[in-house]
Amino acid sequence: MCGIVGYAGSESAAKVVYDGLKKLEYRGYDSAGIAVMNFGRIEVIKSVGRVEKLEKYAHILEGNVAIGHTRWATHGKPSTANAHPHSAGGITIVHNGIIENYAELKQKLVSEGEIFLSETDSEVIVRLIAKFYEGNLLNAVIKCAELLKGSYALLAICEGKNEIVAARYRSPVIIGLGDGCNFCASDEPALAGKCKHVCVLEDGDFAVLTADEVKICDSLGKEIKRQVWLNTAEPAALSLGGYPHFMIKELWEAPSTVKNTVSAFRQREEQIKDALSGVDKIILTGCGTAYHAALVGKRYFEELAGVEATVEYAGELRYNTPIISGHIVLIAVTQSGETADTVEAARLFKNLGAKVFAVTNSLHSEITRIADVVVPVAAGSEICVAATKSYSGQVSALYLLALQLSEKEVAKELLTELYGAPDLISQTLQDIDVYALAEMCARASGVYFLGRGIDYAVALEGSLKLKEISYLAGGGYPASELKHGTLALIDNKTLSAFIITDPDLAAKSANAVEQTISRGGMVAVITSLPEVQSQFAHRAEVVKLPECGKYLSPFASAAALQYLAYRTAVTLNRDPDKPRNLAKSVTVE
Ligand code: M6R
Repeated sequence: MCGIVGYAGSESAAKVVYDGLKKLEYRGYDSAGIAVMNFGRIEVIKSVGRVEKLEKYAHILEGNVAIGHTRWATHGKPSTANAHPHSAGGITIVHNGIIENYAELKQKLVSEGEIFLSETDSEVIVRLIAKFYEGNLLNAVIKCAELLKGSYALLAICEGKNEIVAARYRSPVIIGLGDGCNFCASDEPALAGKCKHVCVLEDGDFAVLTADEVKICDSLGKEIKRQVWLNTAEPAALSLGGYPHFMIKELWEAPSTVKNTVSAFRQREEQIKDALSGVDKIILTGCGTAYHAALVGKRYFEELAGVEATVEYAGELRYNTPIISGHIVLIAVTQSGETADTVEAARLFKNLGAKVFAVTNSLHSEITRIADVVVPVAAGSEICVAATKSYSGQVSALYLLALQLSEKEVAKELLTELYGAPDLISQTLQDIDVYALAEMCARASGVYFLGRGIDYAVALEGSLKLKEISYLAGGGYPASELKHGTLALIDNKTLSAFIITDPDLAAKSANAVEQTISRGGMVAVITSLPEVQSQFAHRAEVVKLPECGKYLSPFASAAALQYLAYRTAVTLNRDPDKPRNLAKSVTVE
């Protein structure tokens, strides 16, 4: 949430920071701003709306040190006054995170005569740094950080100094190590193609960046070393490559994500196997789409491996009082590896002595520092706020984990099945016809997704995706629950979409379809089963999925529903890549 970028070097710093912010826009797009050091003076530009509004100014501003911000508003509406950077007393900052004790700090500063210009929590930071500044910016930032409660990824500059001071606590900061230039940013895409090496700040770290040097230190100012990695962010992943939107591009990358996830798993198989040995209970956690992948994972662990598994929303789990007994494993599923709720749930379990696995697409993220075992999802950069290919990657990683716990012979067969998942997704996307259904969704007053068993897990994903990018009301329910309340909502303007892929439960779901048709509701049936297709031909909108085994079905049905959400958003003229009010990585509570 919120993207920050800093640069010190010999190029036009405003342009470099502008380019970086464009690549981080998925983290928030309510407003944006850049501050540049020009001959010792700081110049600031800000605008409400997307980063591109800054483009013309970024080309005019001169100077070789700059910081910038793209905002997802937490405290204070999107406005120019609330946009970052914020300045006071010759200091300028950008901040990602939430200062939980800002009201108290603000009250004290106001009583000392400070006049606040914004409604943000972040403004207390700049006013505190300015208050503590006595010629050394790093010292002032350290003193300020001692007073802050909450989370921060913070960049500060000071008039007359060609340096950036960065600080990190519970919000990510990555440093890019260039040749005669250095960078800092919230996330790797901002550094794609800019530098060969990167390193990641840890909680409580501070860094001072100039064009020639990066010094990382602790809160006593003592220099520390952090591991340096090759910068693997790919510029190609950040371009549309001929597609109209990132969402559809990334959906089409789901097959290669599954393939690459299988290969990446292979490389860590021995370590994973050892870590799973003796496990008798699994708790899966995540948020949003990752939670939905975990729901599918639960079926894999229980039905393929016979190991008890439960799934909890990470935002709930982090405040539970879990009982750690026997060989319990927590599996945290997160694309970004930075989702605050998921990270904190993992930290809770780790502190209680449970083994923690992270199923993640971000190998340098916070979750990887907490987890005992990292299970890679090899999706590459996912730019669209709506998750697509990362879901397929997460489901395949969970499938592979379950196979590690199942009987050898069964595992062999199931693995061969998984090799068919990439083709299954491609075939689904090639053959599927959801144009008519997307029109029906766009006209409906409410859209409900229903299914049983594994299809219920996918129904939740279909519903989230549609709400997220089309802004249509609705929900996902077990088909069995329909008659316990939801049926009252059905009329000729509501659409109920049933997902039916499990032959064992098909007749039960078909009953619910009949009941909905009888009550005059619009009905769609999304199914891989030929007998269900014939049963509802001419009585419902039938969307055919390729025939496939039960455990592979989420690869097809989820891809179909993600595509349906995309088509509906396009029909309604919504931007599927940047839905209103949202950001990709939810690093705050
Ligand atoms: O990075 P994470 O996987 O932890 O993110 C979790 C959710 O915020 C995310 O899946 C969100 O629900 C997506 N925007 C859904 O498309």
